[in-house]
Amino acid sequence: MRDNNGVFISGTGSYAPSKTLTNCDLARMVDTSDQWIINRTGIRERRIAGTEEKTSTMGSLASAAAIKAAGIHKDDIDLVLVATLTPDMFFPSTACLVQTQLGLRQVTSFDVGAACSGFIFALEIASNMMKNGNFRHALVIGSEKLSSILDWEDRKTCVLFGDGAGAVVLSSQDRLGYEVIDSYTASDGSQPKLLHMPGGGSACPATPESLGQGRHFLKMQGQKVFKVAVRFMEQSVRKMLDRHGLIPEDIDLFIPHQANLRIIEALARSIKAPKEKFFVNLDRWGNTSAASIPIALDEASRKNRLQSGDYVLLVAFGAGLTWGSTLLKWKY
Ligand code: ACO
Repeated sequence: MRDNNGVFISGTGSYAPSKTLTNCDLARMVDTSDQWIINRTGIRERRIAGTEEKTSTMGSLASAAAIKAAGIHKDDIDLVLVATLTPDMFFPSTACLVQTQLGLRQVTSFDVGAACSGFIFALEIASNMMKNGNFRHALVIGSEKLSSILDWEDRKTCVLFGDGAGAVVLSSQDRLGYEVIDSYTASDGSQPKLLHMPGGGSACPATPESLGQGRHFLKMQGQKVFKVAVRFMEQSVRKMLDRHGLIPEDIDLFIPHQANLRIIEALARSIKAPKEKFFVNLDRWGNTSAASIPIALDEASRKNRLQSGDYVLLVAFGAGLTWGSTLLKWKY
């Protein structure tokens, strides 16, 4: 076991499918409009994976970019976690598929299911596994093909989501990048129907009837989800700030889950932080669930707007319900 207990994000990467679906494209498919979607969500377009693109292949491409950015060899990776609610299949895990697609050694690989908060949960699990000294470099991936579980006739949901992947290399050595300072995660399973996919699991296996009833599509009670999203994201921010004796002014960049611009603005108002401090890219991506934070982190890193010592706070909310935050400190 090693003495150094620090864990660092030493490289980031992301992958966007080439097909773009605009709000105007959607207006030709369902009864909606570009203006309604922009006003109610802030989303202008999203990426849609092709039939050959899977959650695993998108995750692998994002990971290859993160490995390159970290300046390590793929054989240095000894742990793979994939956060997703759209795995390629129930089993084997998408992480195992990524492991073989990247040609990695026979390393520990498994999936984490916490919906849109999945990346925060996976980061916490991987960080703690690394702190015991048994792992040196982990891939933590958020990858989603949400287009595969959307009802393309339901305007209340199909306009909100998109596909894509983001990944980070987590390293146990003191390296350039983000130091993972702390994580907070929590869940409340008492209202599963706020946001769920009823069919396909052991409770409701696939049958011709379940297919006909549309039970294999994502279902959401949007307004209720909106309210709890703001409440639990605020709680996640406050919890992390209180733990470290920080105030919102001390945070240089907030990277929130990219579900809806109005949720992000409500969060900024509730913690009294300027909205300019909140990274936003949902206008180009829509909600990519577990992939949204690692994609945003990759874009923020590549914009070079951070200075050594800056605090970055990741904050997410998702089905489950699940929520949480991760405090990072930028070093270079
Ligand atoms: N185009 C046009 N009209 C629409 C559309 C659409 N795409 N969707 C709904 N409407 C209509 C509704 O039918 C309704 O019409 P009515 O008043 O005649 O019945 C009207 O617009 C208002 O609908 P609301 O649902 O009240 O609209 P709201 O302002 O709440 O916005 C939205 C809906 C965008 C879904 C919002 O509630 C939201 O963002 N909720 C949170 C969603 C979220 O963040 N989910 C992700 C969670 S993370 C995870 O784990 C996946």
